[in-house]
Amino acid sequence: MTRKWWHDIVVYQIYPRSFMDNNDDGIGDLKGIISKLDYLKDLGVGAIWLSPVNKSPNVDNGYDISDYYDVMDEFGNMDDMRLLIDEMHSRNIKLIMDLVVNHTSDEHYWFKEAKKGKESKYRDYYIWRDKPNELESNFGGSAWEYDENSNQYYFHLHDKRQPDLNWENPLLRKDIEKMINFWLDFGVDGFRFDVIDLIGKDVDNLITKNGPKLHEYLQELNRNTFGKRDVLTVGETWGATPEIATLYSDPERNELNMVFQFEVISLDKKEGGRKWDLAPLDFIKFKKSFSKWQTSLYGKGWNSIFGNNHDLPRMVSRWGNDKIYRVESAKMLATMLYMQMGTPYVYQGEEIGMTNVKFPSIDDYNDIECLTMYKERLQQGYNIEEIMNSIYAKGRDNARTPMQWSNRENASFTKGTPWIKINENYKEINVEQALSNKESIYYYYKNLISLRKKLDVVKYGKFELILENDKEIFAYTRTYKNGQLLVICNFYGNTKQMIVPKEFLEKEYSILISNYKERNKLKEKIQLRPYEAIVYNTKTI
Ligand code: NOJ
Repeated sequence: MTRKWWHDIVVYQIYPRSFMDNNDDGIGDLKGIISKLDYLKDLGVGAIWLSPVNKSPNVDNGYDISDYYDVMDEFGNMDDMRLLIDEMHSRNIKLIMDLVVNHTSDEHYWFKEAKKGKESKYRDYYIWRDKPNELESNFGGSAWEYDENSNQYYFHLHDKRQPDLNWENPLLRKDIEKMINFWLDFGVDGFRFDVIDLIGKDVDNLITKNGPKLHEYLQELNRNTFGKRDVLTVGETWGATPEIATLYSDPERNELNMVFQFEVISLDKKEGGRKWDLAPLDFIKFKKSFSKWQTSLYGKGWNSIFGNNHDLPRMVSRWGNDKIYRVESAKMLATMLYMQMGTPYVYQGEEIGMTNVKFPSIDDYNDIECLTMYKERLQQGYNIEEIMNSIYAKGRDNARTPMQWSNRENASFTKGTPWIKINENYKEINVEQALSNKESIYYYYKNLISLRKKLDVVKYGKFELILENDKEIFAYTRTYKNGQLLVICNFYGNTKQMIVPKEFLEKEYSILISNYKERNKLKEKIQLRPYEAIVYNTKTI
């Protein structure tokens, strides 16, 4: 496999609104990010994925762009953007920009023009029909909105203020290319493509994901923009199977470098239901899903690895135990994930074990998806408690509360009034506290990140799931040349005995990393403590 810079690094995702506020208006900004670059450098991150910073009316916190060539006022201006990139580059950190090209804001010039009537030059930049069909928006309700002026409906897969772009129109595609080239010339090092599997949609045939022309469009985009440069591209794809992911990420096909896939993320919901319809996690399926992705893309494509982002609940609350074993379980989950093959994406606050929130009232919530669902389900007769429980478990605001920098006022995120409440546990869980304790989750992440950089077996080792039907242990090996890692994670809060398969006992080994101070030696029977994680580095004698 040809070595690439994104095989070595860990990407850190910043949700700018909630990261660091420099001008005390209660909203994070670019200067705030600049002030924290040394912190990220110390952690060892190689790139930052910045959630959208373009001009936006913020119906969906920046995922509704009204001007691709400018920065939203609350975050700063283009000079700040210049400074941010320069400051990042001087620390050897790359910038991956979020690119939202499936839809724009309804306040974008193109849409405002398109709305003027059927004759408008920009009419076909969007999708218009005389009659709606049964397609639904991802946020709930119909995907069609009536426009009185022209007596037609326009299509939107998210909020009605996020009209979908019409990728069948070559003029639109040219304008998108121009914009991407502008940002490449500006100095960005890559893109995260928002809901990219929706751009090839064929609405008349009720196809939204993985439409017939999707890969053709991506190859064209690659050819005319980023394909000529050494940048990282990652696509968000809710509908990808490993076969589809290979289409995107096979280097010979010239599309993207990798995709985010959401198979394990979707396992704790009722079959056929929405994410709000909670179901316990099927741990065996969970392990097998990871294994399937690791093995299917081996030698053919490249994986991204993540358990968190701005759309997902905090993984320590979701898959770990954020009460009694917060530290142990956060470290275990990081071990389980980041010893796998692919590029890891760490979401802000994950490195200090930030948790979900439970705000008492719906009025404390901000996210358009959650507010839409709340209204819809209330009308459908759900009781409030049930709705709130879904929000506590899956709401996107869980990940969007401000970064907890210290135990002082507003967690030192802002001196103003934060745009969304801060998680009350900031007094105990914060960066200052983490930095002052060598046993903290932060230092564990730092260690994992540097191990990934150093060891080829972590980057390129072949993955094999072992004990695949064990109901509590997640264990796998990574093999590269004559070296092998044995990764063992007790996924639950009970003590558990593990019978180690014989083949490993005949090997020389050292312990690479472990989340308990007193380390368990590799022997026939290992008594695993709650959420214990150990990585053995073995060599055939
Ligand atoms: C995926 C983004 O991650 C999410 O935050 C957003 O709401 C939708 N795409 C629409 O852009």
